[in-house]
Amino acid sequence: MANKARGNIYLIGFSGTGKSNSGRQAAGMLGWEFFEMDDEIEAAAGKSIPQIFEEDGEERFREIETGVLRRAAARSGLVVSTGGGVPTREENRKLMAETGVVIRLTASPETISDRLAASARRRGRALRPLLGSDAPVERVRALLAEREEAYATADSQIDTDGLRHFDVASLIVDTWSHLSQMAEHADQAGPANTEGPRDDD
Ligand code: S3P
Repeated sequence: MANKARGNIYLIGFSGTGKSNSGRQAAGMLGWEFFEMDDEIEAAAGKSIPQIFEEDGEERFREIETGVLRRAAARSGLVVSTGGGVPTREENRKLMAETGVVIRLTASPETISDRLAASARRRGRALRPLLGSDAPVERVRALLAEREEAYATADSQIDTDGLRHFDVASLIVDTWSHLSQMAEHADQAGPANTEGPRDDD
């Protein structure tokens, strides 16, 4: 539990839930470093994410992704914006759970689809190989359902529908503060906490 309180904040959740924008602002509020996994993956591979998927395949992408997550997990005081597929690997879930608090950002499939299609239009290209440029709501819904169990392992979750990045960032900081206080208390209570009441309680 000690690592939970003193480690990193991992933001997990589907593309388009605002992990990057809100995470960057939350890092600013805390005076922590922001760690954007997708950027780190592109730097490590020397090419864009769509190129990695196209030239090397998804499995290779997932290997690079886990390597980048290991680098983040070896540090502390980071707000980590994870890629949407990170929690689908058990190894990744374990790494995050052992080295920080895990906060899931959610949004409705309609909101996600609208946000991703708008972002692809703005940039003139699709950035998420698994979703294409129009991120159809049915495809989003199906992938969300497939991943629900993995996402549900988070310590806490924040619904971002209708919220500004700044509001989500404030909620991330509040949630982290609450979770790390609970972890500190659990540490102080020690193993006696798991035993039944003593006679003198
Ligand atoms: C992915 C999400 C993307 C990126 C890659 C795969 C996924 O990250 O890692 O396209 O499997 O959901 P964002 O969640 O930052 O869009």
